[in-house]
Amino acid sequence: MLGLEWSVRSMVENDLGDVVALEKQCSIHPWRASAFREELSGQGRCLVAERRCTGKIIGYCIAQTVVDCVEIRILGVEQSARRQGVAWELLEQCALYCREIGMIILDLEVRADNQAALNLYQRFGFKEVGRRPGYYRRPPPAVDAVLMRLEI
Ligand SMILES: CC(C)(COP(=O)(O)OP(=O)(O)OC[C@H]1O[C@@H](n2cnc3c(N)ncnc32)[C@H](O)[C@@H]1OP(=O)(O)O)[C@@H](O)C(=O)NCCC(=O)NCCS
Repeated sequence: MLGLEWSVRSMVENDLGDVVALEKQCSIHPWRASAFREELSGQGRCLVAERRCTGKIIGYCIAQTVVDCVEIRILGVEQSARRQGVAWELLEQCALYCREIGMIILDLEVRADNQAALNLYQRFGFKEVGRRPGYYRRPPPAVDAVLMRLEI
């Protein structure tokens, strides 16, 4: 996106230290560097959002092709950069990737208690298509996984 203080680009191996540090702030069960590395070597789109002036990474998102759809595996935005459209732009880029490779379905899973993410996805156009009851067991109590789909 032009005119903003940040921009989105492809994630590279050198970003992993910063991405893993940010993931620790964003997630209850943070991914390790090895998990990100595996995604980088897969067939998909691994993205970061960075501040134009400092190069600081403020967001990340990974979408992978899984047979006949694209799955959003992970998404996070630094606390101080939230509500500025960063996640929205990362989702736009994932939807673009989906179109580029001729797929029409973008899937993801989200904790049923993650209201910020649910709002984001619903507003973006994702619809709930299923649930895995009690899928997230830690920390207790268990929380459902909400399966969401966007048809592009
Ligand atoms: C969920 C998350 C990725 C949103 O990132 P973000 O960059 O702040 O989101 P955006 O600014 O693009 O928000 C776009 C819209 O989503 C909705 N939204 C986003 N955060 C919200 C919140 N905390 N409360 C309510 N609605 C929210 C709003 O409709 C928002 O538009 P608005 O700001 O004009 O009202 C971010 O809060 C985060 O990193 N959370 C921790 C990690 C996480 O939950 N990842 C998703 C796991 S599935």
